[in-house]
Amino acid sequence: MKQEKILIIGACGQIGVELTLALRQQYSNSQVIASDLREQAHPLLEGSGPYYTLDATDIKAVSELVRKEAITQIYLLAALLSATGEKMPMKAWDINMNSLLQILELGVEVKLNKIYWPSSIAVFGTTTPKNHTAQKTIVEPTTVYGISKYAGELWAQYYHRRWGLDVRSLRYPGLISWKSAPGGGTTDYAVEIYHEALKNKQYTSFLSEDTYLPMMYMDDAIRGTIELMEAPEEQIKSRMAYNLSAMSFSPKEIAASIQQHIPEFSIDYAPDFRQAIADSWPSSIDDTDARNDWHWKHQFDLDKMTQEMLKNLRK
Ligand code: NAD
Ligand code: SER
Repeated sequence: MKQEKILIIGACGQIGVELTLALRQQYSNSQVIASDLREQAHPLLEGSGPYYTLDATDIKAVSELVRKEAITQIYLLAALLSATGEKMPMKAWDINMNSLLQILELGVEVKLNKIYWPSSIAVFGTTTPKNHTAQKTIVEPTTVYGISKYAGELWAQYYHRRWGLDVRSLRYPGLISWKSAPGGGTTDYAVEIYHEALKNKQYTSFLSEDTYLPMMYMDDAIRGTIELMEAPEEQIKSRMAYNLSAMSFSPKEIAASIQQHIPEFSIDYAPDFRQAIADSWPSSIDDTDARNDWHWKHQFDLDKMTQEMLKNLRK
């Protein structure tokens, strides 16, 4: 049994629920402590692991918990996502940046073994080449969310260089899952569409029909995260977040994939403020570095994901 003790902050969100359950399988229930501002999410109740109510920006409380539980790794998932962030820019900056900076400082102080902190395709902006966007390219994010992610990547790299802190990160694309709902992002349409297809056989997309974005099924994202965190240190050659890719599709294409299973399903389009955010992001991502450095490989394409989503949501 590995002796790590892991704290997940933001464990009740779309990623946190599944990551907590996966890490508890990999380690043990008692070695993985879940925490969030909110009440414990339903799927975690069944897991019977420890749970704390914790504010990521309250460093005194975080520090006390880390010391009390002898934490060796932190997964910091608490954040406001792109769409919510544009409604509350200062709050997004406060949560996304201050929690990270304080936890990086704490990591040095208590000598954490590792920190995981996710970045996003939102680091890229309108001046970035749109297709097969490279790991290193023009980076001029347009949203407060994207600015916080890019600044965070630079801070993570700084703490590694300056203090040897082992901080690892991925630029997730839009993530699609059925166990827990997404939390205010621009890619959320690609989750909502499955729910609406089953419930109402109709969906109105807030992105236009030909908006291509990089996307990934949650199973791939969770496996990729754990593989990155378990990789030997010498394989982690980028201390900025790694580009990570699986598929790219538009609302029209995901609708067509659903229609193969639900022929009567129909979609229409009413783009809102999230269209401008989507238009500023890449259509597809080049993740050669992740594939070469620590052997990342995705398993789900659009049709395989559609089958899984519909099968599980029907249950
Ligand atoms: P989410 O919104 O579903 O979950 C975030 C969780 O953080 C929520 O449960 C929320 O209650 C919690 N939280 C918010 N403020 C907090 C605070 N001050 N203290 C403690 N908890 C707090 O988001 P998610 O999709 O699970 O994203 C997790 C991380 O992954 C974020 O950093 C996000 O930017 C990143 N990410 C997500 C996606 C995606 O498609 N889901 C893509 C790229 C990057
Ligand atoms: N899925 C996220 C969002 O739309 C990307 O980081 O905000």
